[in-house]
Amino acid sequence: MSNLYDNPKYYEIAFSYRDISAEVDVFEECFKRFSQIPVKSILEVGCGNSPHMEELIKRGYQYNGLDLSKAMLEYSRQKASHISADVNLIYGNMVDFSLDMLVDFVYITLGSLYVKSTSELITHFNSVAQALKKGGLYLLDWCIQYDPLKSKGDRWEIERDGIQVKTTVSWELVNCVEQTIEETITLEVNDHGKKLNIVGKEIKRAIYPQEFLCFVSGLKNFEFMGWWNNWDLWQPLEQANKIDRPIALIRRT
Ligand SMILES: C[S@@+](CC[C@H](N)C(=O)[O-])C[C@H]1O[C@@H](n2cnc3c(N)ncnc32)[C@H](O)[C@@H]1O
Repeated sequence: MSNLYDNPKYYEIAFSYRDISAEVDVFEECFKRFSQIPVKSILEVGCGNSPHMEELIKRGYQYNGLDLSKAMLEYSRQKASHISADVNLIYGNMVDFSLDMLVDFVYITLGSLYVKSTSELITHFNSVAQALKKGGLYLLDWCIQYDPLKSKGDRWEIERDGIQVKTTVSWELVNCVEQTIEETITLEVNDHGKKLNIVGKEIKRAIYPQEFLCFVSGLKNFEFMGWWNNWDLWQPLEQANKIDRPIALIRRT
């Protein structure tokens, strides 16, 4: 695991630009439109610092998070203890996992589909299928490469509680046949004068849009529901001029 995920507090500041409550509204709109079952229990894959956890609990859902970073899980556990919430934080690998219960909804955010090969992609979706009740939804935030490596990356800066975090994200092609890319996330932190440079590197197997559709149609246990730009169910991706923060939704059959 990279050093990046050993620093949950700085990671949380770096990615705090999101409107979490609006994103949970989108989850709920998906439940209304597409779920065939009532939603009570939720699993976040690659939950990290569990940014949606508090909002989900506030709205009455039961939250489960799966992650491979003990530091991130501990950070989420601390957050849950402050609100006395009954949450289930599980140490596990999204590539191949099993839960001892079934959930009603699964989601993964910020392109965190950390699989390195086609076989890992298959075991990942099989694991999600085993964890999700029939009729339930799996929402993927930016896990499909719509413009492979056209974008050079991104850079932004956020300050919270006197801590400044400058974040840079970039991608590089590793192998075009295996469709692997290396993602580098760098956090330049200034924590009240203490300076840190935190770097995380991960290899990902890219999945392209039409490939995703073929892949899902070949799965026996999922069907494609749709994809939308900018977390907005009124913006189908086909009509987007510039793709930004796209979400895709599939349903367990
Ligand atoms: C970009 S962060 C996303 C965290 C959080 N979901 C959010 O929205 O900010 C990706 C998370 O995936 C976790 N991760 C990376 N590879 C993983 C794997 N193979 N299995 C489970 N979690 C993994 C990392 O530890 C990290 O917490």
